Amino acid sequence: MDSIAITGGTRLNGEIPISGAKNSAIKLMVASLLTEEPLRLTNMPRLRDTRFLGQLLQHLGTNITESDGPDGPESVLHTRTIRSHFATYDLVRQMRASFNVLGPLVARNGQAKVSLPGGCAIGGRPVDLHLKAIEALGVTIDLHEGYVYAQAPRGLKGADIEFPIVSVGATEHAMLAAVLAKGVTRLGNAACEPEIEDLADCLNAMGAQVEGAGTPVITITGVKKLHGASHAVITDRIEAGTYAVAAAMAGGEVRLTNTRADLMEALLVKLEEAGVGVTRLNDGVVIKRNGARLKAVNIDTAPYPGFATDLQAQFMTLMTLAEGESVIRETIFENRFMHAAELARLGADITVSGSEARVRGVDHLEGAPVMATDLRASVGLVIAGLVATGETTVSRVYHLDRGFERLEDKLNACGAEVRRIHGDGIDE
Ligand code: EPZ
Repeated sequence: MDSIAITGGTRLNGEIPISGAKNSAIKLMVASLLTEEPLRLTNMPRLRDTRFLGQLLQHLGTNITESDGPDGPESVLHTRTIRSHFATYDLVRQMRASFNVLGPLVARNGQAKVSLPGGCAIGGRPVDLHLKAIEALGVTIDLHEGYVYAQAPRGLKGADIEFPIVSVGATEHAMLAAVLAKGVTRLGNAACEPEIEDLADCLNAMGAQVEGAGTPVITITGVKKLHGASHAVITDRIEAGTYAVAAAMAGGEVRLTNTRADLMEALLVKLEEAGVGVTRLNDGVVIKRNGARLKAVNIDTAPYPGFATDLQAQFMTLMTLAEGESVIRETIFENRFMHAAELARLGADITVSGSEARVRGVDHLEGAPVMATDLRASVGLVIAGLVATGETTVSRVYHLDRGFERLEDKLNACGAEVRRIHGDGIDE
């Protein structure tokens, strides 16, 4: 298993181009199941998760061609026919978003058999809201031996669905099925994340009729068939936010390009409160910090446009060196503080109690071996390594590879000293 070694103490100066959003790309790839024509996705991130989903889609009947086109990395996904309607436990367990193939499979083919994903490192993460939404669309759902059997031989029908809590995945899943349902579907208390709007834009380019994405009420008028389209994946606001925090932590001046400041406003405001310089540009943002110590600020994670849970670990890392005490409340997932114990190994002073973490700033961190527990936690540890004295080694970096494209290259281009150590012990 690979690990990453970071030699701390260098400031970051330079430019970091932001990739297409992982959490959008994987849902857009799933949308290709809805049409027999090719779907071309540009600004595609090349990640472990997109590769992995590609394997599942190929198993279901999708032909995938990857290339570097004039608009950057692109993938063309073409599902002439659904070859299999079966997603095994092994396929779904490794990446939860694979579960979202259920809706499109049953919408296009009348049936699907998809494994329940099970829990994961950040919480129980049930899929009850997904199943209720798909059922409301007229699909018969049976659960046996860890599998969901979905049937709708006469097709799906539009419904009024009010979500009891905001769920990104359930909103997207309902959209991915309702586009081919007969009649109108109304999704209430829908998630407003930018990735939802991106999915709606792509589906509309494929001939769907989705209105209101990005607001809490989405209306979908079902159509009989979707066609091929070309769509550019939205910028990865979490990747951009992560590098913004890295620059704030290490000091220096970093320009993040190919991204949008408006998509990470909740983070930028908190960075400014902490004493970080933020300049919003048309195509990105500049993050600047001189040597002055940061101030502790509090955050509560919340659905968009609130502070993203996917940036919580990174922000907690930043607060380990701030002056004073920062209170961090995680309101989305019940177990998303695993990084606190690893940060403590580097000298951080953090007390976790239920969904609240209190971070008392220390004057320095010391390099040590630490272990990644999930994608965002692991990048938080890399950020800590950028300022820790000596060397920090983060093991189990396969988590990192799920969602950060060329992380070492991007940081090293700005002066960081990050290197990958392959499982065979060879440095790169
Ligand atoms: C998406 O997960 C993202 N994943 C997550 O990013 C992100 O943290 C999360 O949204 C919140 O922004 C992808 O897009 C692939 P939810 P998702 O459904 O859709 C509960 C990363 O690091 N819930 O909005 O699974 C759930 O347990 C990942 O890139 C139910 O109770 O999140 C959670 O407490 C991690 N029943 C809350 O809702 C359900 O059926 C919000 O989860 C579904 C969700």
